[in-house]
Amino acid sequence: MRVLAFLDGTTADPEAPLLRVDDLGLLRGDGVFETILVVDGKPRELGPHLDRLDRSAAMLELPEPDRAGWERAVDAVINNWTGGRDMALKLVLTRGNEFGDGTPTAFAMGLPIADKVLKQRAEGIAAVTLERGFEPGLAQRAPWLLLGAKSLSYAVNMAAVRYAAREGADDVIFTAADGSVLEGPTSTLVLVRDRTLVTPPSNIGILPGTTQAALFRAAERAGWSVKVEPIAAAELPDAEALFLVSSVRCVTRIHTLDGKQLNDSSALLRELTALYESEY
Ligand SMILES: Cc1ncc(COP(=O)(O)O)c(C=O)c1O
Repeated sequence: MRVLAFLDGTTADPEAPLLRVDDLGLLRGDGVFETILVVDGKPRELGPHLDRLDRSAAMLELPEPDRAGWERAVDAVINNWTGGRDMALKLVLTRGNEFGDGTPTAFAMGLPIADKVLKQRAEGIAAVTLERGFEPGLAQRAPWLLLGAKSLSYAVNMAAVRYAAREGADDVIFTAADGSVLEGPTSTLVLVRDRTLVTPPSNIGILPGTTQAALFRAAERAGWSVKVEPIAAAELPDAEALFLVSSVRCVTRIHTLDGKQLNDSSALLRELTALYESEY
């Protein structure tokens, strides 16, 4: 089950050819995207996702996204979805065709949630720390590196996940050159320390997570402290709990880090999942 829609609200067969071979999204990964969780026909954090699409597009100097058009495309996908309760909704915006008139390519696509993600939500994951090779000040100094943009150039992120799989792990926590922690290839790291939720600041060159923001909002309301501050990789093995959070995986517990079993955080997972779900 897949649904494909465009910014004018029309839909098309997701199996039919759509892109031209000179689409710069295809040729150079030159574009941006978002992935949104839709549950029972309701998109979660749609506003923050569209805000982030705007921010990513601005970083790549793409034309400003047409917000009303994206909302039409989102509605069209949701209204035509006949799959299960949960859907992953991808928004894709590329620079368009190299030999074209400069019109960006834009579409929204609804997809089922992969079984692997559901299994990881339920059972937790083993993660490895892997170097990402830059220090936290680089994002400001070198805006052309697009650190913190949700660009279509995710080949490095996917390569890191494959590397982790060869090491027997499910996912990755990227570390910076100064020994601090960045993010997962498709997720935000949240650490628990003394009933405080901690996540690294996005200005070090990572994506500001919509799921982390929703979780922190709910946790603060329930009396938790929350902090956005640098986290040393050396602190990870002794944390009360580590979670990778993102739109589709929601809150996923890390049970093993770099081959070492962590504290049992099942009770904290239940508590944080209930808090996160209370937002919707
Ligand atoms: C690199 C990266 N960091 C963090 C996230 C988490 O963002 P969100 O919670 O908005 O899905 C993602 C999402 O895919 C991501 O690709």
